[in-house]
Amino acid sequence: MTKLIGTMPDVAVDAPADGPVIAHPKPLLRRVYLKTFGCQMNVYDSERMSEMLSAEGYANTADPADADLVILNTCHIREKAVEKVYSDLGRLRDLKIERQAQGRETIIAVAGCVAQAEGAEIARRAPAVDVVIGPQSYHRLPELADKARQQGRAQIETSFPEDEKFNQLPVRTLGPASDGQAARRPASAFLTVQEGCDKFCTFCVVPYTRGAEYSRPVEKLVDEAHRLVDEGVREITLLGQNVNAYHGEGPDGSHWTLARLMHALADIPALERLRYMTSHPRDIGDDLIAAHRDCSKLMPFLHLPFQAGSDRILAAMNRKHTARDYLALIERIRAVRPDLALSTDVIVGFPGETEAEFDATLAVIRQIGFAQAYSFKYSPRPGTPAATIGEQIPDVVKTERLARLQALLDEQQTAFNAASIGQTIPVLFERIGRGDGQLVGRTPHLQLVHAEATPLLLGRIISVEIRGSGQTSLRGVIKAA
Ligand code: 5AD
Ligand code: SF4
Repeated sequence: MTKLIGTMPDVAVDAPADGPVIAHPKPLLRRVYLKTFGCQMNVYDSERMSEMLSAEGYANTADPADADLVILNTCHIREKAVEKVYSDLGRLRDLKIERQAQGRETIIAVAGCVAQAEGAEIARRAPAVDVVIGPQSYHRLPELADKARQQGRAQIETSFPEDEKFNQLPVRTLGPASDGQAARRPASAFLTVQEGCDKFCTFCVVPYTRGAEYSRPVEKLVDEAHRLVDEGVREITLLGQNVNAYHGEGPDGSHWTLARLMHALADIPALERLRYMTSHPRDIGDDLIAAHRDCSKLMPFLHLPFQAGSDRILAAMNRKHTARDYLALIERIRAVRPDLALSTDVIVGFPGETEAEFDATLAVIRQIGFAQAYSFKYSPRPGTPAATIGEQIPDVVKTERLARLQALLDEQQTAFNAASIGQTIPVLFERIGRGDGQLVGRTPHLQLVHAEATPLLLGRIISVEIRGSGQTSLRGVIKAA
């Protein structure tokens, strides 16, 4: 499963401030604008695309009007995410025409899950699009952009090549810090360890857009983690649609579990924090539970979607677990890690959901108490089994249920944050805040913390006394640097 975090900021290549900084081995001939929608997997893919394009001589721009190549890295998980892409494409078409009038060419590429799911249909609906490229083929982007330029017609690449993309992309490098300030390097990075999903929840497009489960080999991941840490990263979040199904090949030829991979990564001395997302309750093994006790670098935070509280709905979703299974699992993990903070994904208005079944969802939330959560109205997705179930729930009902659900989740999040007041908590400072002289960091429980501090503390874990809290963030003062 994927974790949605809304439209992400544009990924920078010639990064100012705290973005990645990339050296350009070839002369800077062209400019690329890259916009990322959807989950962290897309954020990771965008970073890798940026690095690859930089090596091809593209410089980054934050202004699409200035770009020779525009890439939308898209999300297909709900209809709303797809609509956003088409409305962006409308604006980009006008821009392309304006630039054409000035004798400047613009190549528009649609990457990501909408590209994979809709393929040539995109070029039909949005004829200004030049390249449609699925998530498994990013390494072919420069070549396809050139082809589109030469041939003047759309290039479509949505196959699932045998030779997986990670082997084709250049090795990771965040590049040298431009101003010599190590403190400006990103403190926290994503590392995709697994892609695809074989679970086939009946509401979800991921098994179709990202394909079958694939785990990257251990050595490649350890190597990539070393590079990130050498460049100043202190926290790595291991990513996968179903990350705890990880079963990559180890150096000994056997298949390693996520827990075993995590222990190997924890051996990197300068790496201080590990996280992972997103998990499926069915694939949480005993060794992963034990890792929450034994691996001190693994943060006490778990994002574990439960989707719905009614067993009838869970069965119709093909989740392969009951509400009781979920509660029992949480109990087992809390038994080894009592300070574990929980996050989840919930869907309201799945076809046929009655008022009593929706109440069962609220009951699970009350019983567990979440530190944060993502909640969605069910959105019928073409090609998924649930979309053809007869009893679709009217939108007004979904809206009303979502509001009630979110009120409860907001209340829990606010209470969870308020409980931090007065505590002194280690915070990893990640970026400069909007307020004067403020830095923004994260607690082990993934809460955002704002504190007045010198930028020299970026990339470091510092004790902060929490003085204030809101629904989505904390405020504190530096105790010890
Ligand atoms: N409608 C609404 N929410 C969905 N999700 C996935 N597919 C759909 C859909 N069709 C949610 C699930 C998943 C998260 C990433 O998005 O809760 O865990
Ligand atoms: Fe997650 Fe289920 Fe979708 Fe797989 S099919 S990505 S487990 S929601």
